Amino acid sequence: MFGRLSLLVSCIHILLVPSFTSALGTSCTAPLTTGTAAPEDPYWLETITHQGISAFNPDPATYQVFRNVKDFGAAGDGVTDDTDAINAAMSTGDRCGGGTCGSSTITPAIVYFPPGTYLVSAPIDTYYYTQMIGDAKHPPTLLADAGFQGKAVIDADPYLADGSQWFINQNNFYRSVRNLIIDLRQMPATAPAIGLHWQVSQATSLINVVVEMSKENGTQHQGLISFVWRFSPDELSDIVFNGGMNGIYVGNQQFTVRNITINDAEIAVASPWNWAGWTWQGVSINNCTSAIPVLPVRSMLGKGVGSETITDAVVMNTEVFISTTAPVNNSFGGSLVLNNIMLHNVPVAVGVQDGEVVLKGTNDTTSIKSWAQGNIFSGTDGKPVFTQGPIPGPLIPGNLLDSEGRVFGKSHPQYADYALDQIVSVRSMGATGDGVTDDTAALQAVFDQYAGCKLIFVDAGTYYITDTLIIPAGSQVAGEAWSVIMGGGSKFEDESGPDCLFGANGVFTPSGILEITDIVFTTRGATPGAIVLEWNIHEPTGVQGGAGMWDSHIRSLFTNMIPDLAAGTDLQLADCPAGSQSPNCMAAFMSLHLTQGSSAYLEGTWVWTADHDMDDPELRQINVFTGRGLLSESLGPVWLIGTAEHAAIYQYNLHGAESHWIGFAQTETPYYQPVPQAPAPYSINKKYADPTFEGTLGRAWALYVQQSWSITLFGGGFYSFFQNYSTACLANVSCQDQIFNIDAASTIQVYGLSTVGTEYQLSVDHKGVVDEASNPTGFQQSFAAWTRW
Ligand SMILES: *[C@@H]1O[C@H](CO)[C@@H](O)[C@H](O)[C@H]1NC(C)=O
Ligand SMILES: *[C@@H]1O[C@H](CO)[C@@H](O)[C@H](O)[C@H]1NC(C)=O
Ligand SMILES: *[C@@H]1O[C@H](CO)[C@@H](O)[C@H](O)[C@H]1NC(C)=O
Ligand SMILES: *[C@@H]1O[C@H](CO)[C@@H](O)[C@H](O)[C@H]1NC(C)=O
Ligand SMILES: *[C@@H]1O[C@H](CO)[C@@H](O)[C@H](O)[C@H]1NC(C)=O
Ligand SMILES: *[C@@H]1O[C@H](CO)[C@@H](O)[C@H](O)[C@H]1NC(C)=O
Ligand SMILES: *[C@@H]1O[C@H](CO)[C@@H](O)[C@H](O)[C@H]1NC(C)=O
Repeated sequence: MFGRLSLLVSCIHILLVPSFTSALGTSCTAPLTTGTAAPEDPYWLETITHQGISAFNPDPATYQVFRNVKDFGAAGDGVTDDTDAINAAMSTGDRCGGGTCGSSTITPAIVYFPPGTYLVSAPIDTYYYTQMIGDAKHPPTLLADAGFQGKAVIDADPYLADGSQWFINQNNFYRSVRNLIIDLRQMPATAPAIGLHWQVSQATSLINVVVEMSKENGTQHQGLISFVWRFSPDELSDIVFNGGMNGIYVGNQQFTVRNITINDAEIAVASPWNWAGWTWQGVSINNCTSAIPVLPVRSMLGKGVGSETITDAVVMNTEVFISTTAPVNNSFGGSLVLNNIMLHNVPVAVGVQDGEVVLKGTNDTTSIKSWAQGNIFSGTDGKPVFTQGPIPGPLIPGNLLDSEGRVFGKSHPQYADYALDQIVSVRSMGATGDGVTDDTAALQAVFDQYAGCKLIFVDAGTYYITDTLIIPAGSQVAGEAWSVIMGGGSKFEDESGPDCLFGANGVFTPSGILEITDIVFTTRGATPGAIVLEWNIHEPTGVQGGAGMWDSHIRSLFTNMIPDLAAGTDLQLADCPAGSQSPNCMAAFMSLHLTQGSSAYLEGTWVWTADHDMDDPELRQINVFTGRGLLSESLGPVWLIGTAEHAAIYQYNLHGAESHWIGFAQTETPYYQPVPQAPAPYSINKKYADPTFEGTLGRAWALYVQQSWSITLFGGGFYSFFQNYSTACLANVSCQDQIFNIDAASTIQVYGLSTVGTEYQLSVDHKGVVDEASNPTGFQQSFAAWTRW
């Protein structure tokens, strides 16, 4: 019964392939520890041979994935207008956008900017599946011309003349902007200048982006704006906003923000509404008038702000930290959780908008350990206690914290100082990425030979594999515009004897690191016996976050773009329409398994079972089934800053797990349930600690916690919108009965949880404890905290 006693590892054969052999590979004379690029060398991504392909593009031989804006005529001299050149780099090759294509996986691109200053006079409109990347060593500047016309310098979802947009916001996936400075200061302070119109959804990120705005009194500039009614922007990290009226102006379902600095803005973050929650981790605010976030009540669309959870903030010389009303109950104000906050010369900590000051600051230094506004619950007592005051803070184990006691964070590695000869391309080594050829042996050979010796560059493409691919300890792996590794074949067909497609292996070398960036792991079905990624590696002592993944996703999607490879076996839209229950539409046994011996830092990892075909012009819904989302049996440390959706049995299952920090966790119950009811079409497998379903009305669990300790959920949104594709159940919150179960043995602390469509928001031992009726906050129901005692 106790998972702790078992050491469940599915990639058994890894035991026969000790990964340290890789470190002794013939090409590896010295382990890769530091970059050897000369200071004047360009970033390797610019100079590496560009041979990425799009396997399922109609013309993979000529379709260009990597585009250097200078090759399209951009001057980067700060004087020449580069708008047209950059937009040509963006759009060339019949890419997806412009109002005629809403979604596609077959026209990926990197739009690359060498160092320089690129003058633009109109928006850079980002097409679907694009990474805009600047030189990581010398981030280039996009300089808005004084006469700039248009919505924003970077527009991720442009408006058309009739008011509609290029993309459906909630399906606006796969976009990233990195290493860019956006400078609005040539424009008049009174111009409504905007750095980023970032109306996007999952699998999106902003990394290492700075927006410079006017600091004049009365400035109208804004750093980032985004309004996504319903769905979920993903992840912002290492962002700096200087000046402006608003650093960020947003109304969204949910966001995770890590490591953000906002200086000299009038309002650091204006949040007129969000209906679920935001998690802020590592925030620095200086010299603003009011800081973060503004929580007005029942504003736009009748929705208030559901929940804000903020940890590790330092705010200086700012009049008000949290500007809100002073609500008298939960339903009137949403929930707010503050943890480890330092205020220096901030006279008001919380609450002033047409209300009293709820929490005073000082003109000196104020420290707030843990504080909440909203309903608090404990144990099995379902009685809400509306609180505006100190609360028991999360007890976060030291191995999750950095040297200054903040929740540890690690940025998406970009290997800025690596020299070209420190990088090996898998296509140069014989892997094809053409989506057809079996690349198992070629890829495995590269990993075995170069793990720990070179950065393994997985050129854009779709790499088909038919056997477990072991990613050995020591590997640093970088994709290109989300390179796809796709597993399939007879080995993964047996649901009762699952095997792993990808094994991240650290059994014999616990001191090895592992870094994976910009990769999509997927299956070609039917593969009901596939554990898509088994993570069996632990960060070396003293290397926090040494085993991790960034902007890398696990996708269960059958697309009608994959041609008849092995006729009849590839799932296509026609085979798996909404409402179908074909066993041929079973995409995976489990998406991600963190083993007991592992640690993991996952930032921007989207574990998605597709609910629609991304390559269907009509984006029609499909019934594709994944058995399980993420099973963690890890003893930690584990940082999860990601999402999981649509798996049949559960989205997250913690079993014998310890020492986990879970940032904003978002889940959705499959739209088709209860037709069929969970666990169908899968069977329960006790070896993998599957839950039972009393209390869920045949629905998947969002989070199921068994015999687990020292777990902190800091911001969560668990949604059940549908019953057999109908949303009628939302009206009386009856789509699901229970969604989040904790067994009596586990210690988990829950902060800022929002749910939709479920009668009970939290259950203990399958008995509903927190009733949604206690916590209405708008479209969703939210509460501030639940603690076991
Ligand atoms: C900014 O402008 C407003 C309105 O014109 C004025 O009341 C205020 O005193 C000005 N503040 C500073 C610091 O100049
Ligand atoms: C935070 O962001 C800044 C600015 O981009 C960067 O220099 C720093 O390394 C980041 N820190 C962490 C812990 O990610
Ligand atoms: C904040 O304002 C003070 C006083 O004007 C200035 O010295 C300091 O550099 C500013 N800090 C930041 C981070 O902008
Ligand atoms: C919450 O407070 C508001 C404002 O006073 C009031 O209108 C509302 O009825 C209260 N709701 C509950 C559940 O007490
Ligand atoms: C800070 O506040 C104290 C007490 O309210 C006041 O005496 C002092 O003048 C203030 N200092 C500054 C720099 O505003
Ligand atoms: C599910 O919905 C479909 C389409 O509305 C309907 O035909 C079918 O009868 C429903 N099934 C059940 C079990 O309710
Ligand atoms: C919700 O409404 C449906 C249809 O009106 C009804 O069948 C169901 O019993 C209701 N559920 C609850 C929990 O009130």
